[in-house]
Amino acid sequence: MNITVIGTGYVGLVTGACLAELGNKVFCLDVDRNKIEILNSGGVPIYEPGLKEIIARNRASGRLIFSTDVAASVAHGEVQFIAVGTPPDEDGSADLQYVVAAARNIGRHMERNCIVVDKSTVPVGTGEKVKAAIRAELEARGRGELDAMIVSNPEFLKEGAAVEDFMRPDRIVIGVEEGAAGAEAREVMRELYAPLNRNHERILYMDVKSAEFTKYAANAMLATRISFMNELANLADRLGVDIEHVRKGIGSDPRIGFSFLYAGTGYGGSCFPKDVQALARTASEHGQELEILGSVESVNDKQKQVLLKKIVARLGEDLSGKTFAVWGLAFKPNTDDMRAAPSRVIVRELLQRGAKVQVYDPVAMEEARHAFALDLADLPGKEADLHYAGGAMEALEGADAVVIVTEWKSFKSPDFAAVKAALKEPLVFDGRNLFEPVTMARLGVEYHAIGRPS
Ligand code: NAD
Ligand code: UGA
Repeated sequence: MNITVIGTGYVGLVTGACLAELGNKVFCLDVDRNKIEILNSGGVPIYEPGLKEIIARNRASGRLIFSTDVAASVAHGEVQFIAVGTPPDEDGSADLQYVVAAARNIGRHMERNCIVVDKSTVPVGTGEKVKAAIRAELEARGRGELDAMIVSNPEFLKEGAAVEDFMRPDRIVIGVEEGAAGAEAREVMRELYAPLNRNHERILYMDVKSAEFTKYAANAMLATRISFMNELANLADRLGVDIEHVRKGIGSDPRIGFSFLYAGTGYGGSCFPKDVQALARTASEHGQELEILGSVESVNDKQKQVLLKKIVARLGEDLSGKTFAVWGLAFKPNTDDMRAAPSRVIVRELLQRGAKVQVYDPVAMEEARHAFALDLADLPGKEADLHYAGGAMEALEGADAVVIVTEWKSFKSPDFAAVKAALKEPLVFDGRNLFEPVTMARLGVEYHAIGRPS
């Protein structure tokens, strides 16, 4: 099929590249000229395992085109995916300006009936707004005979595993309009996703609003699990209980399951924080308080401070004269995404308390430089106390302690003799529970983790 993908961020780029890999001819459109230039010169603006190879292969075969040309891109697609950002507005609701702008562009340039698929995470009712924006542009052009069929097809991929998640989805949610238009759109979507729908049925058909809601419900449910585990871990700390035993003890109940039960330094990333807020906002706009979500959010904000509390309890409020190594900056492993990363709260607070900080991340160093430049703009002179190390061991040199914030695989089995030799004291604050406390004690390492007795 001829596909247009509007927005080449994490979702749009993965969607476009993977749909090309499945044999479609895909135009990827973005307003960011810089991004398109990078992509057209063989680069990939984000780090995502496996993506670079797929993009290279499909660009070479001519199935994947990157462009800033709105008219040509929109004219290309019989199916148009909207995959632009939906960042939080000041009041926490989803800012739909990019989605509406994309819809208007479709209305301005479409030359035949097409299917418009909303892949961005959008509040219930957005499908109708997209339809209205397209219709208004068509009427203004005097092309009212044309029609766009609206589909909601929320994306459930995780960064760091985006290609794998797209190519092997647990489920594909397709929300369609009522009537003949919906039936036609459903058939086209079924055909488009057929290569990912082998062996057993993964497509869940529903109405547009239910599909929109399902996406928020999924993210809110996952965020709730994490915040609840973090609260349990903090209580475990007080009780001398090991949250890792508890995790296994409850996860083995199939009604609970093992996924997303890891206590840590709080959830980050571009989606959980904004989607929890946006769902709460939708509820309050409709006269209902989603009380649980308020707590999920405030527990998460506090959780980003938990490692700092442990550091202060051990080393005192004033950290001047101390140096900390920070291992892991991205909000999770296998990505360079620094959006809402817990490391940003931790590094800023350490610097504010007078410490020097030596940071290292296997892939997010460049993104981290941009993020910390923004975060430290109101703390003049503090950037001088922040050192970007060339490797994990280099970050440890002369540090009083190491603080582990992201669970990259390469941090999981360090040479502890070398770690001890590099640090002034064998002191580890682990926000991701990478090691066994008994092993650390045997190795002579003072170990502070989340919800685990030291
Ligand atoms: P992103 O910010 O990485 O990328 C959005 C892109 O859209 C940018 O490159 C921007 O320049 C472009 N854009 C904005 N307006 C445009 C327009 N009018 N025309 C063309 N391009 C335009 O965003 P993302 O992380 O890919 O997220 C996109 C949506 O998908 C959001 O709603 C998000 O909640 C949702 N989502 C994200 C993930 C994820 O893992 N990042 C997963 C599932 C769903
Ligand atoms: C999340 C969802 O998992 C995806 O299904 C969804 O499509 C996406 O949001 C989205 O809508 O954007 P993502 O944010 O990429 O994906 O990453 P996750 O693996 O979900 O991790 C989110 C945060 O939760 C990370 O900071 C991670 O460290 C934290 N987390 C995750 C925990 O603290 N504990 C866990 O057990 C799992």
